[in-house]
Amino acid sequence: MFLMETERLGLRLLESADIEAIMTFWGNEVVMRYCGGAGSEERELRAVLYYQNLFLQRGFSVYGVQEKSLNRIIGACGFNPGERTDEAELIYHFAEAYWGKGYATEAAKACIEHLLGVNSINRLIASVDPRNTISASILEKLGFAYEGMKWHDDLKQEEPSYVMVLKEQL
Ligand SMILES: CC(C)(COP(=O)(O)OP(=O)(O)OC[C@H]1O[C@@H](n2cnc3c(N)ncnc32)[C@H](O)[C@@H]1OP(=O)(O)O)[C@@H](O)C(=O)NCCC(=O)NCCS
Repeated sequence: MFLMETERLGLRLLESADIEAIMTFWGNEVVMRYCGGAGSEERELRAVLYYQNLFLQRGFSVYGVQEKSLNRIIGACGFNPGERTDEAELIYHFAEAYWGKGYATEAAKACIEHLLGVNSINRLIASVDPRNTISASILEKLGFAYEGMKWHDDLKQEEPSYVMVLKEQL
């Protein structure tokens, strides 16, 4: 049932039936304050369909994260397509009740390992809101390198940008 498993977590494709659990993070203003704000149920159901198709087409996605002992998802972690076709962008969002347990780091490590098996992707990128110091420290812990500030036209702000080279190109 899970695409990836860690000691405490199971990661799988998101489903429409997860919507109630999804709204505890993507629909929550506190969780999404540095990530474009909370979404409506309608918007997040479209995201579920998008991520199901992304997995079928590209072999990677943003996944639902379950605590193995719980039968519901507590967060999402995985990849959006990057600007370059050989690039993916790491994201992670967890319901507030599950912060501070090392889950984001544990889930991201499993996702990165899984991505190593996707031939088309050579580079991982990530950006964080300058106020989101927890997220920046997770990226550094995972082995991302700080690349400099990058302008985000949709957000109208500069954000620290991070990169991890998965496969060196010849
Ligand atoms: C960012 C986020 C995913 C972190 O999740 P998490 O599971 O708590 O992260 P981890 O526990 O793996 O690691 C976070 C680090 O910050 C620390 N930390 C976590 N929550 C903290 C808090 N509220 N205050 C202080 N430190 C905190 C942890 O102790 C850990 O540090 P350590 O490895 O030195 O012990 C979570 O806070 C979240 O969903 N935030 C909202 C969404 C978001 O900002 N996503 C990132 C942008 S895409």
